[in-house]
Amino acid sequence: MRRRVLMLSPGFPGDMPHFTRGLAAVGAEVLGVGDQPLPAVACREVLSDYLQVGNLWDEEATIESVRRWLAGREVDRVECLWEPGVVLAARLRRALGLGGLSVEAARAFRDKETMKAVLDRAGLRTPCHTRARTRDECREAAERFGYPLILKPIDGAGSADTYRVEDSGELEAALEKLGHIPEVSVEEFIQGEEFTYDTVSIAGRPAFQNVAWYRPSPLVMRQNPWISPQAVCLRDLVRPELAGGIQLGRRVLSALEFETGFTHMEWFRTEEGEVVFGEIGARAPGGRLTHVMNYAYDTDLFVGWAEAVTTGRFNQPSAPRYNAAVIFKRAVGDGERISAVEGLEPLLAEHGESFALIELNPIGAPRRDWRQVIEGDGWIVVRHPDLDATLHLADRVSSEVRIHTR
Ligand SMILES: Nc1ncnc2c1ncn2[C@@H]1O[C@H](COP(=O)(O)OP(=O)(O)OP(=O)(O)O)[C@@H](O)[C@H]1O
Ligand SMILES: [Mg+2]
Repeated sequence: MRRRVLMLSPGFPGDMPHFTRGLAAVGAEVLGVGDQPLPAVACREVLSDYLQVGNLWDEEATIESVRRWLAGREVDRVECLWEPGVVLAARLRRALGLGGLSVEAARAFRDKETMKAVLDRAGLRTPCHTRARTRDECREAAERFGYPLILKPIDGAGSADTYRVEDSGELEAALEKLGHIPEVSVEEFIQGEEFTYDTVSIAGRPAFQNVAWYRPSPLVMRQNPWISPQAVCLRDLVRPELAGGIQLGRRVLSALEFETGFTHMEWFRTEEGEVVFGEIGARAPGGRLTHVMNYAYDTDLFVGWAEAVTTGRFNQPSAPRYNAAVIFKRAVGDGERISAVEGLEPLLAEHGESFALIELNPIGAPRRDWRQVIEGDGWIVVRHPDLDATLHLADRVSSEVRIHTR
């Protein structure tokens, strides 16, 4: 029987049209609900119907509008791969009497303190953490945990408003900057390398899994405009350094009672080899990582995810074939428009076969704000079966390719 899926925000952000087309590709009927006008929804050709709401985040009103608009039409699934809509999707499921991630489970994925409390109860290693609503609560946490510390919004994204503080002076400075955030997480700072653990899971078991390595950590890339950030999907998942993170990831999924869909976890590995949880989302990763996984596995996770949520099966390739690195380029200079790209041609002449994708902001286009757009002024994917070769080429793309402005 043809499945009918209600997709929240099918056209935004970035990868959502790919997932929506994935649903259509596996034969589902897709109903869209979002705040974009239909002509702005890139995948509108695959939607059988679309409801535009004024304010998606007025959850009560959105649920009521959806109910009226459905007018008795039955849907099989409600899906949302955009972080701020994860709880709204769960509330819609409840209102429509559907299975899938429950409201309670969705809240644990959204609220970083609830999340870590559940994992602590399951005996998993999280950074020492607490919720703080006032400056005094932050100071008190600093007394208890010592320095360095991390302060971040309880439901943050994109490392925005996230601060590492080394001492009480820096704490006071961070508190000034955090004045507009009503509630923060205060955490022990974990020094180490940072990785992801991404899955497409079915009935609580990963049918597909991936580990990516952030070079450098998201916090460091956000604070240093000159860095070309990288994320590298690793081919050899049986390396001993990754075993603890993969095992942690699987235990986190069961503790949070995740069932079917995409998940994106972040974790740390310290110099001593300790594995520590970072955070997890009940959704696909951002930062184009789904595309990078597709290049690493020669697969189509947009279709694979759609198949998993509509049929409970995963029939796309799931064995890693390459290491695949994405490199985000940020334009240099003080100009407002892109004027030239330097250094790419020689690399292509030498290693053209290892380039899987090159998408650069065109010459003449306004430069982008890398704080707002993770791709910055362009993203490049390179892949190779050998990890050292991949890292070497990725580092050359980082340092030798320069996007100039005028
Ligand atoms: N306890 C910690 N120890 C060390 N670094 C941390 C800690 N918490 C956060 N960070 C750094 O800050 C970054 C952002 O934090 P986190 O992932 O919790 O928030 P986010 O804004 O939701 O992230 P995302 O960029 O994935 O949306 C992390 O990727 C990591 O580099
Ligand atoms: Mg994060």
